[in-house]
Amino acid sequence: MLITGGHPLMGEITVSGGKNTAVAVIPAVLLCDEPCTIENLPDIDDVHALIEILQRLGAETEYVPGRYLTVDPRGANGYRVPFSLTKRLRASYYLLGALLGRGGRAEVAYPGGCDIGSRPIDQHLKGFSALGAQIEDRGGMVYANAERLLGGDVFFDMVTVGGTINVMLAAARAEGTTVIYNAAKEPHIVDLANFLNSMGARVKGAGTDVIRIRGMQHLHSCTYTVIPDQIETGTLMIAAAATRGDVTIHGCIPTHMEALTAKLLEMGVRVTENDDSIRVRPQGEQRAVNVKTQVYPGFPTDLQQPMTALLCMAHGTSTVCETIFEQRFKHLDELRRMGAHIKLVDRTVLIEGVRELYGAPVTVTDLRAGAALVVAGLMAKGVTEIYETSYIDRGYERIEEKLRSLGAEIRREKI
Ligand code: EPZ
Repeated sequence: MLITGGHPLMGEITVSGGKNTAVAVIPAVLLCDEPCTIENLPDIDDVHALIEILQRLGAETEYVPGRYLTVDPRGANGYRVPFSLTKRLRASYYLLGALLGRGGRAEVAYPGGCDIGSRPIDQHLKGFSALGAQIEDRGGMVYANAERLLGGDVFFDMVTVGGTINVMLAAARAEGTTVIYNAAKEPHIVDLANFLNSMGARVKGAGTDVIRIRGMQHLHSCTYTVIPDQIETGTLMIAAAATRGDVTIHGCIPTHMEALTAKLLEMGVRVTENDDSIRVRPQGEQRAVNVKTQVYPGFPTDLQQPMTALLCMAHGTSTVCETIFEQRFKHLDELRRMGAHIKLVDRTVLIEGVRELYGAPVTVTDLRAGAALVVAGLMAKGVTEIYETSYIDRGYERIEEKLRSLGAEIRREKI
């Protein structure tokens, strides 16, 4: 990807459907006894990978990118998902909860996904065991079996988005009621609950610390529209601020963006909200701020890296503390190549704002590091060459097309 920086982003853009909600809702169709249709899915590689997994399990799928995905799960008799498929994305582990809920049996290889820390799944397995499943974890595979899944209490040792979603999936078809304590509250948790309830499930409390799921014997077909992507919205807001442009983002949910909006306002960036749009209009100097990632509704860890890029040219010294993942800092070396003055102390990035970043050849190491390098490329003087851009395609739909429509000078070439 080649970016010539210095062009303010100007105009209007519509955000795509949410990646992290899509990767939870698509496997959830396996819990249904009839076909379901999902709309507003982002046309990204994680979605493509999950569709292939469902096909390999025997489900019938009809996918019209940008329009809808219909999944008929009735032929899905498979329960084994090999590493060749699971390695393509982190969310392949949701097949554990979905297959357990569907038929009480799952053999799923460990997931892939961004290398941002150890990312164990012990809490997921603890949750399945609480529902009566026998779990075996050997040779890079998780073997889960349950004669009968019985609702139970699950108390997570830490807030885990994946663990919360996986237990919701298995519990939706268990006998009796499951209560999840210390549950994650991200927007995509609520979206999954709404989808399950659209199929006739009984999920209450999503978005709070305690979620109650009464298992149902039968779930019926539905058509569901997933929420917009909170992290793509945030990335576009940051890119608008970084290029001192004037961008209106349509089709978003401003309440999902409050932690980022508050930080941009603190920097002196003008942010105005309407029902389903946000306008970002930087004015004058951008002040340095302190950021600390937290579980929702705190500052999202997925925006930590793009925000770090933005703060490289803020006036003063900023700090960014990453409390969720222990190794989400691979973008720092690449930003230094572009002239950023950055130091990492434990899990806190110290950023001394500079007057200019300079285009340079940089390499993407994970999805949101890629977003950070795109933001930096848009800010920098000269041309930035970004390599390994396939990571970016996992989570952003047609990113260069969207940025070009806002005036960015960005293109991709095959090496
Ligand atoms: C999901 O990852 C997202 N991925 C991540 O987005 C996001 O950063 C993360 O939630 C936090 O919001 C998807 O939804 C596919 P966690 P997940 O379980 O489920 C530890 C992106 O860029 N933990 O909430 O893996 C874990 O190591 C991606 O879109 C355990 O120790 O996140 C981490 O330190 C990156 N044991 C912390 O909890 C467990 O069993 C939070 O992880 C589970 C998690």
